Amino acid sequence: MRTIPVEDFDLVIFGATGDLARRKILPALFRRFCAGQMSPGARVIGAAKTCHDAESFRAVAADAIREQSSDRCCDEAALGRFLACLDYVPLDALGETGWSDLAGHLDPGHVRAFYFSVRPMLFAELARRIRDHDLVTPGTRIVVEKPFGRDLHSARDLNAMLASNFAERQIYRIDHYLGKETVQNLMVVRFANMLFEPLWNSQYVDHIQITVAESEGIGSRADYYNRAGAMRDMIQNHLMQLLCLTAMEPPARFSPDTLRDEKLKVIHALDPVLPHHIVRGQYEAMPGREADHPSYRQAVGDPRSTTETYIALRVHVSNWRWAGTPFYLRTGKRLVARSSVISVVFKDAPHAIFGQEGGRHINVLTIRLQPNEGITLQVTIKDPGPGGMRLVDVPLDMTFAEALGPEGEHPPDAYERLVMDVIRGDQTLFMRGDEVEAAWAWTDPIIAGWEARGDVPKPYETGSTGPRDAELLLARDNREWRGIRP
Ligand code: BG6
Repeated sequence: MRTIPVEDFDLVIFGATGDLARRKILPALFRRFCAGQMSPGARVIGAAKTCHDAESFRAVAADAIREQSSDRCCDEAALGRFLACLDYVPLDALGETGWSDLAGHLDPGHVRAFYFSVRPMLFAELARRIRDHDLVTPGTRIVVEKPFGRDLHSARDLNAMLASNFAERQIYRIDHYLGKETVQNLMVVRFANMLFEPLWNSQYVDHIQITVAESEGIGSRADYYNRAGAMRDMIQNHLMQLLCLTAMEPPARFSPDTLRDEKLKVIHALDPVLPHHIVRGQYEAMPGREADHPSYRQAVGDPRSTTETYIALRVHVSNWRWAGTPFYLRTGKRLVARSSVISVVFKDAPHAIFGQEGGRHINVLTIRLQPNEGITLQVTIKDPGPGGMRLVDVPLDMTFAEALGPEGEHPPDAYERLVMDVIRGDQTLFMRGDEVEAAWAWTDPIIAGWEARGDVPKPYETGSTGPRDAELLLARDNREWRGIRP
C-alpha cells in the first residue's frame, strides 16, 4: 500500500487515556507507524488528568493497541518501537498544572497538533490555555471531535470561541465518516467514471436511500445519548455528509474549499422536512433476553425517555439536479445488522418491450460503506432457457475484498487517514465551520417541530429493521426500503 510520509510532528492528545484515544486514535497511529508513514522524529504526547507517567501511559496504550489488533496479529517488536515515541504529561485542562511541562516537551521545528479528545465543555478552556501558554506556532493545528454543538446557537458559540484563538485553516473538525475509504470512494465512483454521472440526476434516478444501521446499542454513553438522540448523533453529521457527497455537483478540483463549497450548497438546498416525513423510533427489549438486551429506557435508566434511537426522514434537495427525487435517510441502533449502504434506485425503463412478465425491473447502484465494502449494480438480464423472454435481476458485484485483495479486505480505519491528514495539513476531509452551522440550521427546526408536537418515538423490536411507520413512509410513495443485510 502506498503511503505518503509525513513531516516530524508533535501530536498532543488531550484525554489520552479516554475511550476514543484507546479505541481509535492510538491504534490508528500504531498502524500508520507500522506502515512507515510516521517520521522517525514523531512524538505522541498523552495529556490527561489521570495519574500516569510515560511508562504507565505506554502500558495503557499497549493494551489498547493489542485489544484493537485482535483480528490481525499485533507485531510486538514494532509495538515496542512505537511505544518509544510516546510520552505523557499530567495536565489539568481547568487549571495551570502541567502546562509549562507540556511546553517543554514540544519541539519548535515540528508540526504541532493538539487533539481535543475530551468533553466539549473543555474545548474553550483548552483553546485558551494553549494560546495563553504560547504554544501556538505557524504549524499548529487543533483537532476537534463531535459533538460540535447541540444546536445552531451552541455551534456558533463554539466556532466563535475557536476562531478567537485559531485561524480556520488550523481547525480540523472531525466527522470520521469522511475518513472511511468507501466514503471517499463514493466521490471517485461519481467523478472518475463517465458511466454514472450523466445518469446522476432526477431525470434518471427515482430516489436514493441512505441507511446507517447499527446492531449495537448505546454502550456506556447513556448520558450523552439520552440528550442527543439519533438526529443529533448521526443525521446532523454522518448522514448529512453522505447525503452531501451523493448529491453535490462535481467540484472543480479535489481540494478543501472547492469540495466544502459544493457540500455547503447541498445543505443550503435542503427543504425543511414535513412532520409526516419523519419517523422516530426507540428500541424495546429483546423478548426473553431482557437481561442482556434491555430496552433503551432500561439502558439509560429513564423510564419516560422520548429520545429517538431510530430515525427515518424523507428529504428533498431543491435544485436543478434533484428536484422531485426524494432522499430517504434512516439510521438506528439495535437493528437487525450493522450495515451502511447508499442505494441509488433508477427509474423504470421508459417502455417495456418484453411485457410485464415477472414484474417490475429496475437498476439499483448499491454502495456498501461497511461492512463487506463494495459496489453492486443490479441489472436486468434474460432468465436463461426456453419459456419466452423472462427477465431476471442479477448483481454486477464488485466486493473490494475480491477485487483488491487484502487491501480491499482490510481498509484502513478512518482515523488512520484523518490523523495523518491533520499532520499533512490537508483539510479536505474535515468540516468547515460554516458547513457545521448550516447543518444545524436545517436540523434545529426539525427537532423543535417534534418537541412542540410532543412527539413520542414509536417502539421497535431489538433486532428488527425499525418501526413499522418507517415502512409506511416509503409505502405511501409506492416504494420500499432495501433490506438491511450484514
Ligand atoms: C458516532 C456516534 O459518531 O458514530 C455513535 O456517536 C455511532 O453513536 C458511531 O455508533 C458509528 O460509527 P461507525 O464508524 O461504527 O459506523
